[in-house]
Amino acid sequence: MDKAKRKAIIAGNWKMNKTATEAAELIDALIPAVKDADCEVVICTPFTSLVTAVEKCKGTNIHVGAENVHFEKSGAYTGEISADMLVDLGVEYVIVGHSERRQYFAETDVTVNKRARAALAAGLKVIVCVGESLEQREQGVTEELVRMQTKIALLGVTAEEMKNVVIAYEPVWAIGTGRTATSDQAQEVCASIRKVLGELYGETVAEGVTVQYGGSMNAGNADELLSKPDVDGGLIGGASLKADAFGTIVAAASK
Ligand code: PGA
Repeated sequence: MDKAKRKAIIAGNWKMNKTATEAAELIDALIPAVKDADCEVVICTPFTSLVTAVEKCKGTNIHVGAENVHFEKSGAYTGEISADMLVDLGVEYVIVGHSERRQYFAETDVTVNKRARAALAAGLKVIVCVGESLEQREQGVTEELVRMQTKIALLGVTAEEMKNVVIAYEPVWAIGTGRTATSDQAQEVCASIRKVLGELYGETVAEGVTVQYGGSMNAGNADELLSKPDVDGGLIGGASLKADAFGTIVAAASK
C-alpha cells in the first residue's frame, strides 16, 4: 500500500462549539497557522457558522464542511438541512455518521448510508465515521463491526463516487476522553477498512481512499499516529478549536 497514492486530510470537527462571531476569530487565527500545509485542511463547523467560514476561507487553503446533512432534498423536515442547501453556500465537505449522532440522535447505519448518498449526489465530499464502543472492543468484535458499518454506509455508492469519500475510524472510547488508540490499534483498524474497500471496489480504488483516525488526536500524538501506513489523516475534535494545536497536527500530516 502506497500512502502517496492518496491525499492526507486533516479535518476539524468543531461539534457544538463557537458562535459565528467566535468562529470568525478562530478562523483568523487558523489561516496563518495552516497556510504552509502540504495536506488538505478542512474545518467542519456548526450550520450557523458556515456562511462566515466559507466567506473567511475564500482564497485560503482551508476547505469548509458541515457536521451533518439530511437525506431528503426538501420538504416538511423541521430543523433539518439538505445537501443542496450546503452546496449553495459553498460548503465542500460533510461529516456523516459521527458516533455522537449515532449515540444521541438515533442515527443508524441505514440513515448514515442515506445521508452519504444524498450528499454525494449533490456533489459534496463525505467523511463517513465508523468505530466501535469500548464494550464492543472488549467483546473482540471491532473488526467485524467496523466492516459492517463501512459496508452499509457505502451501499449503492459507486466506484466513481468513492473519489469523494473519506472514511474516519473513530473508536468511540477515544473521543473526547483523552484516551487515544495506540498507533498500532489505529493502523490495524484503518488497514481493515481499506481491505473492505478493496473487496467492494478493487485494490486501485481502495488505495486511493483517505482513511482518517479520530479520537483525542492532538499536537502531541499526531506525528506517531500519522506515521502509520494506513492512517492518512485525522478527524480532530477538541484540538481543532485551538489554532496552534490544529496547526501542529496539520504540520505533522504535511511531512
Ligand atoms: P476528539 O473528537 O478529538 O475531541 O476526541 C474527535 C471527533 O469526535 O471527531
